[in-house]
Amino acid sequence: MSAPDLSQDTLYVGTSWKMNKTRAQAREFITAMSAWQGVSGVQAFVLPPLTALHEVTGRAKDKVDVWVGAQNGHFAANGAYTGEVSMRQLADAGAAVVEIGHAERRAQFSETDESVALKVRAALDAGLTPVVCIGESALLREQGGFVDFVMGQALQAMSGVSPDEAAKVLLAYEPVWAIGDEGQQATPHAVADVIASLHSAWPMSPVIYGGSVDAGNARDYLDLPGCGGIFVGRAAWEPEGFLELLGIARHVVNARKEIHLST
Ligand code: PGA
Repeated sequence: MSAPDLSQDTLYVGTSWKMNKTRAQAREFITAMSAWQGVSGVQAFVLPPLTALHEVTGRAKDKVDVWVGAQNGHFAANGAYTGEVSMRQLADAGAAVVEIGHAERRAQFSETDESVALKVRAALDAGLTPVVCIGESALLREQGGFVDFVMGQALQAMSGVSPDEAAKVLLAYEPVWAIGDEGQQATPHAVADVIASLHSAWPMSPVIYGGSVDAGNARDYLDLPGCGGIFVGRAAWEPEGFLELLGIARHVVNARKEIHLST
């Protein structure tokens, strides 16, 4: 089965739990999310650790409108890759989405633009929606040329993707300097150019923004031209936080619809 085509009229709001949560905590999270019954124009996704994937898909099924996925997968279909899990195995385990090339994986697990491209291809072949992470370091941001750098990363990641398949890929722009506990919140102005450039180069692939997103700044990012959603860590690890962010996305979608109707 192939992954669904994504929509430019939808805001994608996702969270990766990184290496956090037991299965019991995952169950609690999804149970608390039952308040989210789905809203047209907003699509939630959750990427638990692999150990809780089954738990989360099982709990969410028919009850919560959320796509569930993994934080990584191997590009080979199968074989002697001790400790790895293939994209096909992820799909077989119930994943619909897979994150590829997060900055932590690039920095700590030698993920490269080449392996990212292979993984994007493998994910599409397995019928998964790839969430492809790209973003510049603090040094590059300081030196300049970072828009070209991020565009280059995206170009590599998309090198094996046909024009038709571009609508099945989420591009997650996450400046490395904005991610995690040590991260600095980016002003919307500082990230607007990259988002707009990615959007104009791949108009069918929604561009989502990540890096210290929270309830205080989410709307500012979502309002940027070409922004198709947000990708959140810490601020969405409690269900209340995630639900609040989904609510903000719903407001933005409704506001867009009103503007559309009045023009
Ligand atoms: P953060 O993480 O929201 O905690 O900064 C974002 C990410 O790593 O994708």
